[in-house]
Amino acid sequence: MSDYRITLLKGDGIGPEIVNQAVKVLDKAGERFGFTVEYDEALLGGCAIDATGVPLPKETVEKCKASDSVILGAVGGPKWDSQPGNNRPEAGLLGIRGALGLFANLRPSVIFGPLSSASPIKDEIIGGKLDVMIVRELTGGIYFGERGRKEVNGIPAAYDTEMYSTLEVERIARVAFDLAMKRNKKLTSVDKANVLESSRLWRETIIKISEEYPEVELNHMYVDNCAMQLVRNPRQFDVIVTSNIFGDILSDEASMIAGSIGMLASASLSDGKFGLYEPIHGSAPDIAGKGIANPLATILSVSMMLRYSFDRSEAADAIESAVAKVLETHRTPDIYEEGMTRVSCEEMGDLVCSFL
Ligand code: NAD
Ligand code: IPM
Ligand code: MN
Repeated sequence: MSDYRITLLKGDGIGPEIVNQAVKVLDKAGERFGFTVEYDEALLGGCAIDATGVPLPKETVEKCKASDSVILGAVGGPKWDSQPGNNRPEAGLLGIRGALGLFANLRPSVIFGPLSSASPIKDEIIGGKLDVMIVRELTGGIYFGERGRKEVNGIPAAYDTEMYSTLEVERIARVAFDLAMKRNKKLTSVDKANVLESSRLWRETIIKISEEYPEVELNHMYVDNCAMQLVRNPRQFDVIVTSNIFGDILSDEASMIAGSIGMLASASLSDGKFGLYEPIHGSAPDIAGKGIANPLATILSVSMMLRYSFDRSEAADAIESAVAKVLETHRTPDIYEEGMTRVSCEEMGDLVCSFL
């Protein structure tokens, strides 16, 4: 019997390459810190459509539910773009998040020391340091609201609905406030309360929950301003809590501040210890199969898994240190800088293992 049973959802495009590196690093961490992992694979996304006709087969949900946690690569690609909306690879991803109740998505935007010069933001703004945690609501809002097509005055139209219940906002708020308590006790709630009714309810609810956390300094920011402030002065943020769609967009922006989208890890969590760990980037069809994808976002997602699901912070710290060490000398093309050695996806995985 192994200590942990993990389901791998490698997915499409660069998914399999990056997950393979993350597995290698997890196994190496197991050797060093004395735990064993057993893997099972399941289909999600385009590969699942090809094999079964649907992006999220029942068996995939069952396997994930029966495991201690899940590692996901990425799904989607041009091959499946003409699928009907509810049968797209991306619908499978939303489906698994919903089926597993993963309402809280933690997306840490961290600059690893040697990478500060890879950030497109001037060093005097970054100051060599960035550590922002975006807490994205993941199973509600416009992603899960009613949508459809109809005719308006004889003209084809389509709609998607943004809706949040107080319960959904309360539970994500508590996740964010709890994290803020463990960090710098500063929380920014991002909404569009100047226009959207759902944002006004969001803001009222955040304010109500803030009474349970008197030590946390709370401020509110409109999402358009936040997009601007992230570039103007990213260090003003500690924890950001926001809706599903705003979190999706702001986290891609925050990833680039940290150097590359290939660096940004995430944890998708439910109430308990179970989690699905996924890089924030997609299947990168433009570089799939070339062996040049950056596997670090997925490797760092494994480190989040050790920290949040398995309470193995020592092993998580060791992976993060190994990543920082490798970055002093070796880079995949997306974060390449002069004077460094350019490496492939697989070499990057091997290097992280060698420093563990
Ligand atoms: P993307 O994140 O796949 O790629 C955007 C750009 O970033 C591309 O130039 C890509 O080469 C680069 N990039 C992404 N990850 C990288 C990595 N690890 N190393 C180096 N470069 C990397 O976004 P997109 O092109 O908008 O979407 C492509 C497909 O992925 C779409 O089908 C989309 O729906 C899907 N997608 C899936 C997920 C997911 O599964 N979690 C997330 C986002 C997008
Ligand atoms: C992400 C992705 C997904 C999202 C898509 C592929 C459904 O962009 O994980 O950030 O929008 O949540
Ligand atoms: Mn996204």
